[in-house]
Amino acid sequence: MLRVLVTGGCGFIGSNLVRHLLAHYANVSVVNLDLLTYAGNMASLRDIWEDPRHQFIRGDITDRDLVRRIFAEGIDTVFHLAAETHVDRSIFDATPFVRTNVLGTQVLLDAAREFGVRRFLHVSTDEVYGSLGPTGAFTETTPLAPNSPYAASKAAADLLVRSYVHTFDLPAIITRCSNNYGPYQFPEKFIPLSITHLLEDRPVPLYGDGLQVRDWLHVQDHCAALVRIWEFGKPGEVYNIGGRCEKTNLEVAQFLCRELGKPTSLIRFVADRPGHDRRYAMDISKLERELGWRPTIPFEEGLRQTIRWYQEHQDWVHQVRSGEYQRFYDWQYRDRLATGRSAAAPVETPSA
Ligand code: NAD
Ligand code: DAU
Repeated sequence: MLRVLVTGGCGFIGSNLVRHLLAHYANVSVVNLDLLTYAGNMASLRDIWEDPRHQFIRGDITDRDLVRRIFAEGIDTVFHLAAETHVDRSIFDATPFVRTNVLGTQVLLDAAREFGVRRFLHVSTDEVYGSLGPTGAFTETTPLAPNSPYAASKAAADLLVRSYVHTFDLPAIITRCSNNYGPYQFPEKFIPLSITHLLEDRPVPLYGDGLQVRDWLHVQDHCAALVRIWEFGKPGEVYNIGGRCEKTNLEVAQFLCRELGKPTSLIRFVADRPGHDRRYAMDISKLERELGWRPTIPFEEGLRQTIRWYQEHQDWVHQVRSGEYQRFYDWQYRDRLATGRSAAAPVETPSA
């Protein structure tokens, strides 16, 4: 059995990735290290709680002792996703971004170096490249020019990873992906926020003129790219991942109104995000050419599926909104103590 560490496995992409790994690799067991910040949700993994190949550890990636204990038990590969991820929050307070995204990455890199891993996948973002004009796309050699505190913290982490490859021969790979959408995305992000608002006839806030462009990729395509890179990518390389699917925010909002049968008068132009990047677009030809990956889920189909998912999972949304989702950990833990379920159960605290 290969022991794979996924950091941030209770977040949006992390939960989809844990599910993908367990479904597609019978020889893999997943150690899921997640602090359960506001963005972490155990309910996003409800269907695999009982899977003995999933071990959940609530903990902080900046906790060096804890991280060392986890690595000491043997880790083949790290998929490092844990991060503070919302640009707007980073504008209000950059501190948790620097702490988790930079220091947390360094702690993981140190442990990976000390105990040895076969692969370290550092999951990064197109935002490290900055903003584009109306034409062109980011390649893996585009200079880093992050514009938000979030993007700057991710770029700093990328540079740390690069330095550990160069200095210590750490077999790490950096992936940089464009905007994801799909099930289990926290409803502060644009697409789930718009869907959940429209479902309740509430306005969709569109920043500035709404003509900013994002390159959208379904989260399942992102997960497929990550495992392809894990299996066939070259250590030390950077791989761009994207959807070849550029849309303005206004186009996305209009599409959602149409699909949900809501009037576009619910779209409200509001004050712009400070420093708002105008356009992202990814050149993904390296990943296509070298590893044979390409996006498979057409945007409109993926968005329709995503709308359906939010319609059918109103309980998940309500629990997030009410804050109830943050109590799942206590409920699970208490339940297990009360029923004396085994230590192999997915919810456990690490041994000292
Ligand atoms: P998310 O915000 O949904 O989830 C982040 C997870 O990390 C949460 O479960 C949270 O509890 C956990 N976490 C935060 N701080 C932690 C800490 N100190 N220790 C342990 N766990 C901690 O994020 P996401 O959208 O799923 O993004 C995952 C990764 O992918 C991030 O690294 C992000 O930069 C990158 N990424 C995201 C997108 C996107 O569109 N969402 C695109 C490209 C890259
Ligand atoms: O590009 C990858 C990045 O995509 C990831 O690295 C980030 O973690 C992820 O949060 C996302 O960043 P964005 O800032 O692009 O995503 P967000 O969903 O916040 O916003 C998408 C676009 O929609 C952006 O141009 C801002 C705009 N927006 C967003 C919100 C929340 C609005 O117009 N109104 C809104 O209410």
